[in-house]
Amino acid sequence: MKNKMIAGNWKMNKNTWEARAFIQEFSPLVENCREAEIVLCPPFTCLDLMNKLLQGSRIQLGAQNLFWEERGAFTGEISAPMLVETGCRFVIIGHSERRQIMGETDFVINKKLKAALQAGLVPIFCVGETLQERKNDRAREVVKEQLVKGLQDIQIEGRRIVIAYEPVWAIGTGVNASSDDAREMIGFIRSCLTRHFNADTARSVKILYGGSVNKDNITQFLKEEEIDGALVGGASLDAEDFAAMVRLGENAE
Ligand code: PGA
Repeated sequence: MKNKMIAGNWKMNKNTWEARAFIQEFSPLVENCREAEIVLCPPFTCLDLMNKLLQGSRIQLGAQNLFWEERGAFTGEISAPMLVETGCRFVIIGHSERRQIMGETDFVINKKLKAALQAGLVPIFCVGETLQERKNDRAREVVKEQLVKGLQDIQIEGRRIVIAYEPVWAIGTGVNASSDDAREMIGFIRSCLTRHFNADTARSVKILYGGSVNKDNITQFLKEEEIDGALVGGASLDAEDFAAMVRLGENAE
């Protein structure tokens, strides 16, 4: 069984003072955790500071987005090599907020995934259906399409990718998917990965659940062997709560 990954997506929250206070409170609370893989994805503006604060720590740094070109006239964008230079190991790609609010398409997401892998970053590639798609019994079809188009022409031998299954209707709503639904969809995603890559690769990929995960409901997901961890939004902003989730991930069987 793989060790669980607990990843926090701060979205557009926390300035550098708040980030520093979080790390000061959070680090000692998870200092004895040796198993769970801990990732924090703050806004770009906190990355440099967090990188310095986390030197020598097991807590790993991730960004929430990137642009696929390495450099050039792309006002306002940040490239994969820039993230690497700032100490990032991970980058969230294809989050539903970027798909829905910024209009990111599968084509764009595919370019971003390639750029991340090329730079040696580990993408946390998000997929998930809307409520309407689920009601119309299209959840599998939609997620499969996101996977196939997002992963087009991508090989990951010798590289690493993490997938996050995040049903859009569960994000920031307080309505989490049931662990049965999450397990079923994650099993389906793994079967898609088997077809796309091969069985060994599919088995080795961590697939997380995300959507209204908190310290009171995380255990029901982590106890599922098929679910390799959680991508946590709102509840990752509180150091004590997020540390509690990491500790539950540490002990998950
Ligand atoms: P949430 O967000 O935990 O606040 O629902 C999860 C996410 O968007 O990754």
